[in-house]
Amino acid sequence: MKPLIIANWKSHNNLDQSLAWIEKVGPEIEKYPVDLVVCPSFLAIVSLKNQISSKNFKIFLGAQDVSAFAEGAYTGGVGAQLLAGLAKFCIVGHSERKRYFRETAQDIAGKLDQLLTVGITPILCLSSSEELDEYLAASGEIIEKADKIIFVAEPAEAISAGATFKPYDPDAAASLISKIEARIGKNVTSLYGGSVYAANIAQFLSLRQIDGVLVGQSSVEPDNFLKLLNALHRS
Ligand code: PGA
Repeated sequence: MKPLIIANWKSHNNLDQSLAWIEKVGPEIEKYPVDLVVCPSFLAIVSLKNQISSKNFKIFLGAQDVSAFAEGAYTGGVGAQLLAGLAKFCIVGHSERKRYFRETAQDIAGKLDQLLTVGITPILCLSSSEELDEYLAASGEIIEKADKIIFVAEPAEAISAGATFKPYDPDAAASLISKIEARIGKNVTSLYGGSVYAANIAQFLSLRQIDGVLVGQSSVEPDNFLKLLNALHRS
């Protein structure tokens, strides 16, 4: 299986920057043995979808968030049914959503449920195996539908604060994944996220437990992102 790279742009890249990013990385991506999911802001998803399909680029789109509610009177909510057909993936439970937007285990369970209902693959971020226990208590679907979910081991302390990387030990990342899989009861698609950059990506991906990486800061600028892919290529 090719490693899966999730580019999480967070609140970076306006529409013009997003289109320019895809224009730059799109023609290059075929050269690399990876599957790429780009998660832009909601505002760019429709335009990027059109750009990617008209140019036939090998890039999938993901959202960074989704409403925990179905279709209805939920002002400002972007429900899974609105994303269906535009994004194939969606990040859920990121520690920044919990920290800055006060998301709870109930919210996260609701979001997972909405995504699974419309067939969008949730990318579930977990900062610890204890956090998974909280989500398991809130949602029976995680175990039942584990094959339809991508799990990301993301220790909150490893996530870069802007330009400052906080490199995490790859073996500790692999052991967090093993703990998560032990709780789920089987091997699932498991990624690592937190301060992945050109100097350490190959180390993470060389470990048997790690099927891919979720990249924040190093994915925002297309040139940095291509450096990251090149580092992989050379290893
Ligand atoms: P980072 O972010 O690569 O900037 O540390 C990772 C993440 O979004 O979890």
